[in-house]
Amino acid sequence: MVRSAAAARDTRPSSAMRPGPSPTPADTPDSPGATAPGSPGSYTAWSHRPLRVTLAAGGSTLIKYIGSKRLLVPRILQIVRAIPSVHTVVDLFAGTSRVGHALKGAGYRVLANDHNAYAETLARCYVQADAEDVLPAAQALLPELAALPGEPGHFTATWCERSRFLHPKNGARIEAIRNSIAARGLPIELEAVLLTALLEAADRVDSTTGVQMAYLKQWAPRSLEELELRLPNVMPQAEHGKGEAHRLDALEAARTLHGDVLYLDPPYNQHNYLGNYHVWESLVRWDRPDVYGIACKRVDCQQRRSPFNSKRRIAASLQAVLQATTAEHVLVSFNNEGYVDKLTMLTMLGALWGGSAHVYTIPSRYRRYVGARIGIYNHKGEKVGKVSHLQNVEYLFVASRRDLSRELAPLLDRRRRSKLDRAAAAAAE
Ligand SMILES: C[S@@+](CC[C@H](N)C(=O)[O-])C[C@H]1O[C@@H](n2cnc3c(N)ncnc32)[C@H](O)[C@@H]1O
Repeated sequence: MVRSAAAARDTRPSSAMRPGPSPTPADTPDSPGATAPGSPGSYTAWSHRPLRVTLAAGGSTLIKYIGSKRLLVPRILQIVRAIPSVHTVVDLFAGTSRVGHALKGAGYRVLANDHNAYAETLARCYVQADAEDVLPAAQALLPELAALPGEPGHFTATWCERSRFLHPKNGARIEAIRNSIAARGLPIELEAVLLTALLEAADRVDSTTGVQMAYLKQWAPRSLEELELRLPNVMPQAEHGKGEAHRLDALEAARTLHGDVLYLDPPYNQHNYLGNYHVWESLVRWDRPDVYGIACKRVDCQQRRSPFNSKRRIAASLQAVLQATTAEHVLVSFNNEGYVDKLTMLTMLGALWGGSAHVYTIPSRYRRYVGARIGIYNHKGEKVGKVSHLQNVEYLFVASRRDLSRELAPLLDRRRRSKLDRAAAAAAE
């Protein structure tokens, strides 16, 4: 069954997020076809459901991701467009690659980097792969993959039964699809497109509040939906050349990837991305890692730490990246709740190029995430704490070897900026 781009989905987070002992699938109200965990073939009955696959362009949804720059993308584009003679942008902390994807769509050559394997795969799909090379084969393969019967094994047992991030009926299908992708020995970009379709499909039916530190005690309503593969929105090659995806530590990437603009969107706090998205890492690596704890995290979550998650080390690490870059312009996203305060950031950027850098700050205000707005309650449901603030500020800092005050003037003035936003919103409608 080919569904429309507007196919129903439910990404609402459920209220309770408490890791807890896993009831067997038979305990849940939604277990037709399910038998005891671990019994071979437990969930294959689900594969007889109608095939769900969307091959229309634009039907895909990116994964839920902390710190994703969904709202800031138009502003980032406005800034890069305002800087003269830019061809190549290096995105050192690419995450979902939504920034790189938008820049590619605007014609820029993008070199995307992230130290996690799932993020490298998303970058290979959205930044490196070009529609003309991969889409015909991806369109042919997706229905075949979507039709595979469930194949419960290690993945289903570990992340759908021992821990409960995905319903076993979907876990078994994800496992069958992942095994099939691995067995085909596909070209690396086509493989990344199919893996991205699978990651995004799994994300739409997960049973978390958006991160994988814990899963919901009761299955989230969306986790009972059928897994649906959708064709990712892969774009044609950009006017300024083919993009690249890399999996390097940020400092090494700053030394080896060269572009006109260096875009930096590092983590803001101690929350480690590998720990928050460990199931996606294992799904992409397909490496059956040893795991620990209720959430069955990969053991390497304890070793693969980033200095950008450390309050003590982040400033020096950013400094090292800034010193290593050969870019003429640096664009940094940072949040007023992050480990580096505005003054420190301005001082660091101002010191670039022997202290001759021109530095500009473009703030955007956003409502804080819902938990922060609701307030602080005790276990009886009584309000015990005050919400300190309802908004946070996302800063975009621009540092350049050149004086860009004329080019950036409309973005530096708040009133002209909102006019630009209205025009951009109207153009997007
Ligand atoms: C704030 S997120 C980026 C979000 C991204 N701009 C988006 O819109 O989806 C920060 C990213 O930095 C990556 N990261 C953290 N430490 C890193 C390091 N030392 N080297 C490379 N990437 C790193 C994380 O995996 C995470 O994806």
